Amino acid sequence: MLQIEKLTRRFGGNVAVDDVTLTFERPAMIGIIGRSGAGKSTLLRMLNRLTDASSGRIMFKGTEVTGLTGKARLRWQADCAMIFQQFNLVPRLDVVSNVLHGTLNRQSTLATMFNLYPQADIHRAIDILDRLGIAQHASKRAEALSGGQQQRVAIARALMQEPQIILADEPIASLDPMNAQIVMDTLRAIHDEDGRTIMCNLHTLDTARRYCDRVIGMRDGRVVFDGSPDELSTDAAREIYGAGADFSESATSTAIDQPETPSPSAARRALREAEALV
Ligand SMILES: Nc1ncnc2c1ncn2[C@@H]1O[C@H](COP(=O)(O)OP(=O)(O)O)[C@@H](O)[C@H]1O
Ligand SMILES: [Mg+2]
Repeated sequence: MLQIEKLTRRFGGNVAVDDVTLTFERPAMIGIIGRSGAGKSTLLRMLNRLTDASSGRIMFKGTEVTGLTGKARLRWQADCAMIFQQFNLVPRLDVVSNVLHGTLNRQSTLATMFNLYPQADIHRAIDILDRLGIAQHASKRAEALSGGQQQRVAIARALMQEPQIILADEPIASLDPMNAQIVMDTLRAIHDEDGRTIMCNLHTLDTARRYCDRVIGMRDGRVVFDGSPDELSTDAAREIYGAGADFSESATSTAIDQPETPSPSAARRALREAEALV
């Protein structure tokens, strides 16, 4: 489905991503972990074509992503929507308009200037907000929401694009543990229910272990681990994080509470509630 072949990105003399080759056969939830500076963001940005590769290529379902230009490149960027640590919403704009920005590459400039969106898109935006449990905030300014709610607005904006892949660059790094859990539950539910691929840069090991089917460990621009959470031993973690004998998992933990029995995800709950209303 998705192939990354010998992908390299240099910034001057610095090699941010170094000869990375990865194959993804089917939709999955993938966590990319590693220390700050390991090349995680650069890898995601090359996938989304926000950053050009220095060499190597990316193939998706037979198309060379690294070669796309103009409209084809824009279409690809909608197909692999990106969310960020800082949400990247328009703070003073209402929530539903922020979500509708996910359709921007389909709107005329004039319609965009006057915030004129087709009725069907507005309904779809509300439905997505409902699914994510935040429809009650649709008319509020984005800046009035909590961080966890703002990140769900950003996820809603991504879903507006009907993406095949969602790239998330440290989506929970600015959130408290409870909101981090809600956002990760939401991303997991989107994978489980829609079959979209989720590729998530994560600072911490425990979140990757808990939520992802496959974990990729990067160090100094290279992939040093690629396997299931079960295969991610303490030795493998040491290799990824480059820590010495004093390596401790708590140092890379987001301290998300682990419930005894996993509760249904927030997104699934929201969906059921929305269904009960109609
Ligand atoms: N736009 C840029 N210009 C110069 N160097 C960059 C740029 N973006 C990233 N780098 C460098 O590339 C390396 C990898 O960075 P990054 O991909 O942000 O790592 P991570 O997301 O794992 O923290 C770092 O050494 C960083 O300083
Ligand atoms: Mg980063």
